[in-house]
Amino acid sequence: MTQLESSTQTIPVVSAVPQHVAVIMDGNGRWANERGLPRVWGHKKGVQAVRDAVRACVELGVSHLTLFAFSSENWRRPPAEVSFLMKLFMRSLRREIKNLADNGVRLRVIGELSAFDQTIQDLVAQGHAGTAAGQRLTLTICANYGGRWDILNAMNGLLAHRAASGIALDAPVLEADLQPFLQLADLPEPDLFIRTGGEARVSNFLLWQLAYTELFFTPTYWPDFDKAAFMAAIASYQQRERRFGRTSAQLVGK
Ligand code: IPE
Ligand code: IPE
Ligand code: MG
Repeated sequence: MTQLESSTQTIPVVSAVPQHVAVIMDGNGRWANERGLPRVWGHKKGVQAVRDAVRACVELGVSHLTLFAFSSENWRRPPAEVSFLMKLFMRSLRREIKNLADNGVRLRVIGELSAFDQTIQDLVAQGHAGTAAGQRLTLTICANYGGRWDILNAMNGLLAHRAASGIALDAPVLEADLQPFLQLADLPEPDLFIRTGGEARVSNFLLWQLAYTELFFTPTYWPDFDKAAFMAAIASYQQRERRFGRTSAQLVGK
């Protein structure tokens, strides 16, 4: 199993262009409301913003883009909105798989997928298979995802592995033991987190993986988040000093 660098175990190598950007795409409903439109129009427009973000990553050389599309708490929304989001997800998967593959994008959908209709699960499997060869960008869509679920799911995976391999269940759990069972185990930790829509919270997104990620919050609603907005987020990232626990003087001395 892949064992990647952990920001709490070793100091990661940092590059000017973030390798991995993780986004909470928020503000679709308010974007629509402010135009006197039904909320779901905002979600439709949001799909276009996803296309723009994917294109921007390919152009800028960001190699991993992780998008929060539907949280484990979003089931609490009105049934009509949930059902619209499911249909939109299906339609987008159907339409985009070939396009993603043609552009060297490898698609991955993570989360508790068993809660979705079989049609969605089949489309996700087709999407994974159809884009597996993509080398330019890994696009991870988080659907029915929750950060706490991810950690608990990994812990359950580790316990099952221990039981199957005859390892004592109460042996101490090290970070490196748990890491391979997390959803993004094979990706570097996000360098940059973006949340659109003005809220300054993490809403149960990548709780484990964001340990040392640079956070960027913008009032721009997701449907308005274009390439220029993406580049502004990256420019802000480039002003940050990523110390990973060290002092500024230690970095200058390097
Ligand atoms: C984000 O936009 C999309 C999803 C959570 C599916 P919202 O739908 O949360 O939009 P606001 O926050 O209500 O404006
Ligand atoms: C977070 O947005 C989830 C997604 C973008 C998919 P929400 O709009 O659901 O977050 P809260 O409920 O305002 O924290
Ligand atoms: Mg919201």
